[in-house]
Amino acid sequence: MKKEFPENFLWGGAIAACQAEGAWNLGGKTLTVPDTMKYVDIDRGKALKQIHVTRESIEEAKKESDATYYPKRRGIDFYHTYKEDIALLHEMGFKVFRFSVSWARVFPNGNDSTPNEKALEYYDKVVEECLKYGIEPLVTISHFDMPIVLIEKFGGWYNRELIDLYVKYSKVLFERYKDKVKHWITFNEINMSIKAGPKTLGILNENQENYEEMLLQGLHHQYVAASLATKYAHEISPESKVGCMVAYFTTYPHTCAPEDALAMQKDDQLRNLMYLDIQAKGQYSYFAKKYMKEKNVTLKVLENDLEILKAYTADFIGFSYYMSMISSANSENLELTSGNVINVLKNPYLEANEWGWQIDPTGLRYTLNHLYDRYQKPLFILENGTGALDKLNEDGSVHDDYRIAYLSEHIKQMKEAINDGVDLYGYTMWGPIDIISSSTSEMKKRYGFIFVDQDDLGEGSKKRYKKDSFYWYKNVIATNGRDLEK
Ligand code: BG6
Repeated sequence: MKKEFPENFLWGGAIAACQAEGAWNLGGKTLTVPDTMKYVDIDRGKALKQIHVTRESIEEAKKESDATYYPKRRGIDFYHTYKEDIALLHEMGFKVFRFSVSWARVFPNGNDSTPNEKALEYYDKVVEECLKYGIEPLVTISHFDMPIVLIEKFGGWYNRELIDLYVKYSKVLFERYKDKVKHWITFNEINMSIKAGPKTLGILNENQENYEEMLLQGLHHQYVAASLATKYAHEISPESKVGCMVAYFTTYPHTCAPEDALAMQKDDQLRNLMYLDIQAKGQYSYFAKKYMKEKNVTLKVLENDLEILKAYTADFIGFSYYMSMISSANSENLELTSGNVINVLKNPYLEANEWGWQIDPTGLRYTLNHLYDRYQKPLFILENGTGALDKLNEDGSVHDDYRIAYLSEHIKQMKEAINDGVDLYGYTMWGPIDIISSSTSEMKKRYGFIFVDQDDLGEGSKKRYKKDSFYWYKNVIATNGRDLEK
């Protein structure tokens, strides 16, 4: 008999403060990197054109007090609509809701002596609203929303002082929500930093010769901060589970030439595993050490950093999965397509969504097996989904069969992986309610079961509508993944 999803499987969805909350200058919150990311109309699928964060773009944004061209400043106004929105998630039967806390709300000046009570009162309400419905809140401590003050005062994560500031911030959350929040994520997709350092680490010196060294130093500080946060979470509430997270870039060899297999192994190490090894096994891998040597990178590591990394590893492995790529020893004449934050080689066996991201449900089963085999820790799929151009009909319906097809194929593969013996205990699909795109700041790139009537420039009634997928996911949860049909 095939195994089913475990009875207590955590079905739900995930959002991030900087893409949903809006209220960018309310309640004492100060500016964050996403608040400075200007909307660009994107040439979908052809080439990657994500918004690039620079010192200049931040300076330009600081002069602008309007939100029109800075969509993340308004999000979907979740700051004010959280009650109505969480009620809709409850209607779908959510068991878990992943959201992030905005650091710049809680510590508006970065190094304030006490947290901003108004911000915490807001998160109290969000947490209570979830608990009222029996939805478990799963909190990401830092999701791509670097406070600008931390860049200006400290130079971002390159500065070791950020460790203490992050630990102080995390402790405030652990103390406040110790009886209410069990699952925490330290950093969203920590591996994105190597490609998006200004955005995620707040390290802006891209023209500097040793920029990569700065990024790896910034990452080292994040690893230590995450380990310390894990330590304190356990001390404050022994029941709590703290996860690490990467965006998984699953990759296959372009051909069966041994050189392509080696290229694949290297890409997997470089894009995924070296970040997970540190957080799951508690040490820099041989690959990471060799990589740094090749790049002439010398990290400043304090004596007990390595002990801290070893002693406080992640309780579970969280990852996002959207697409896959291929690797080749000789990629010169191969076609590219865009992917999440990076351009990737095109796989002729796969179709892609309108943004060029290659759709690969089987790759999810492959990834789950690969990760479980390597780490033997419980796995949690923290993001999965596909961006699409939805059409709201006059009768308020949205027929999104493509979304149902994408998600049901991925869930089938999760079931296969469970049957393979993988310990998978939760799934928070990405953006259950439409929010602003992280890479492009578009609103029209929608992932949700709930349509938000708002366009790229913020026009629209802001009303929420249930898409066809809303009813589909409700049934998936109600049948614990047994019925995936429409
Ligand atoms: C993940 C991020 O990488 O991808 C999310 O954690 C993001 O914040 C998601 O929204 C989808 O990417 P995008 O650019 O389509 O919003």
